[in-house]
Amino acid sequence: MTTGIPSFSYHIPTAIEFGWGALSRLPAIARDLGGSRALVVGDPGVARAGIVDRVVATLTEAGIPAAAFTEVESDPDVSSVEAGTRLAKAQGCDLVVGVGGGSALDTAKAVGLMLTNPGTIRDYVGIGKVKAAGAPVVAIPTTAGTGSELTIWSVLSDKANKVKISVGSVLNCPRVALLDPALTVSLPPAFTAATGMDALTHALESYVNTATQPISEAMSEQAMTLIARSLRVGVSQGGNAQARGDLLLASTIAAMAFNSTRLGLVHAFAMPLGARFHIPHGLVNAILLPAVMRFNLPGNLPKYARIAEIFGERVAHLSLREAAERSVTAIEQLKTDIGITAKLGDFGLTEADFDSVATEAMQSGNVPVNPRQPTLEDMKSLLRAEL
Ligand SMILES: [Fe+2]
Repeated sequence: MTTGIPSFSYHIPTAIEFGWGALSRLPAIARDLGGSRALVVGDPGVARAGIVDRVVATLTEAGIPAAAFTEVESDPDVSSVEAGTRLAKAQGCDLVVGVGGGSALDTAKAVGLMLTNPGTIRDYVGIGKVKAAGAPVVAIPTTAGTGSELTIWSVLSDKANKVKISVGSVLNCPRVALLDPALTVSLPPAFTAATGMDALTHALESYVNTATQPISEAMSEQAMTLIARSLRVGVSQGGNAQARGDLLLASTIAAMAFNSTRLGLVHAFAMPLGARFHIPHGLVNAILLPAVMRFNLPGNLPKYARIAEIFGERVAHLSLREAAERSVTAIEQLKTDIGITAKLGDFGLTEADFDSVATEAMQSGNVPVNPRQPTLEDMKSLLRAEL
């Protein structure tokens, strides 16, 4: 039994630098961190778009030598971390700059850790296993979704064993999140939509779960407000500066919420469905979010009613239950408006997979904080609803 506000912890060690063209601040940030030689970690897509070269040039022109590592696949394998770490050591790098989506940033963070910690990244799977601060990491997101620029998490693939592994440590938080909305302008509409739904799912799952607390709640509400205002516009008009800024901020602010609270059933499912069926992370969240919301409603009606309000539903005349239900229809309408029609079956999932996927999802640390505790049959029903 608790009285008043329950005790909680909130810790974000990452500094945030935001602004249109903020990439130009990178050399000063690198110097403040004591960086004399940098490894720039980016995925091949970001490299093809010329962004890795721009980051390398920004550093070298300011007198900070930089090497590029772009062998980061989506759902990066532990071997990417090992290859990046070898290159960083060979080049004598004392600073890691990650640029790209979640895969690039998660890899960059893990490389930073492995520059100072012994063994392999597999030795640090779980929460709080890392013992020593890593080399400083600057994270520059080019998508607005994962929030990896300031979370404790690196999610990696162990492709040999067909599982995803997570390394969570406050020592894995980047030292600086450098947020430049200009770098997100060229993101195609489908990616903007899926990554925006990832950010929304972070804000929403953190908001309704049992580990939520006053600071994370405030972050969740602000992130959802920005997404409600700007996700449709960002998808419809990629060059809309207001929308791009809102969405990048929303992604980071949502991460400031879930970093301290974990998430819920959508993200519990995302791990096995991503590892085994290669469903892009944002898309799997978008597919499952409405069904999980509907299942979770009884666990937190007031919060779901508030979500409906944030997404523009008029709920004052409704019962609490009816108001909460409006949050689900509001998110379904948002999905329709941003063109997300995918289902799990599109990626090869069949009824025969439900048992193993649901069983694996139930192992996630996101299940105990979910607002309604599911049975294995509940989990299978959620998959069936979105097949
Ligand atoms: Fe996510």
